[in-house]
Amino acid sequence: MKFLFIVCILMSSIFATPPEEFEEERYLVGEQVFDNKCSSCHVKSMDIQVLMSNFIEHNNKVLNLLAPTGNEISFRLKSQIGSKDDIEFQIDEVTDFVKDYLINPDKAKTVCLEGVVKHFDTMPSMKGKVTEQEMEDVTFFIYFLEGWNGINKYFEKDEF
Ligand code: HEC
Repeated sequence: MKFLFIVCILMSSIFATPPEEFEEERYLVGEQVFDNKCSSCHVKSMDIQVLMSNFIEHNNKVLNLLAPTGNEISFRLKSQIGSKDDIEFQIDEVTDFVKDYLINPDKAKTVCLEGVVKHFDTMPSMKGKVTEQEMEDVTFFIYFLEGWNGINKYFEKDEF
């Protein structure tokens, strides 16, 4: 019992703090980009259970979303690209993917679940509408949007 208690305390101290790669300032800059250039189509964050019910059971007729939500994308990018064992490297890989997707979107490259992405047309290219820096900052924001405790609480789940 005592052992379990200690394990719990240790776990909560690990998950309560974001990893060292997290930079709050950059996250906030990226969030601004998201608010200005992505949020007309992408809702930032919604409860995953509600989303799944909307997509899988109700054919997107409950929420009528225009695109996958930011937290959904956050989760999928991290689970489909690279490995969270090396966060710094994974951020680079995810950034490469998002930069490419923003300029040359193609659902054949999707990291999203088929049951989600089938509700949408391919995203229009953002070519000429976002700068290199903005793409990097917004990816940083999306990466950390969900997974480590307050920042990213679904990160440890296996599926969605
Ligand atoms: C005009 C609407 C629109 C805007 C603006 C928009 N998106 Fe999208 N986005 C979509 C749609 C629709 C999808 C789902 C279809 C797809 O994946 O192509 C999508 C999918 C994505 C995906 C997942 C790609 C995949 O399928 O794996 C990423 C990542 C993404 N958007 C990032 C962004 C970012 C970052 C911005 C802002 C810089 C942005 N989007 C702006 C409509 C939009």
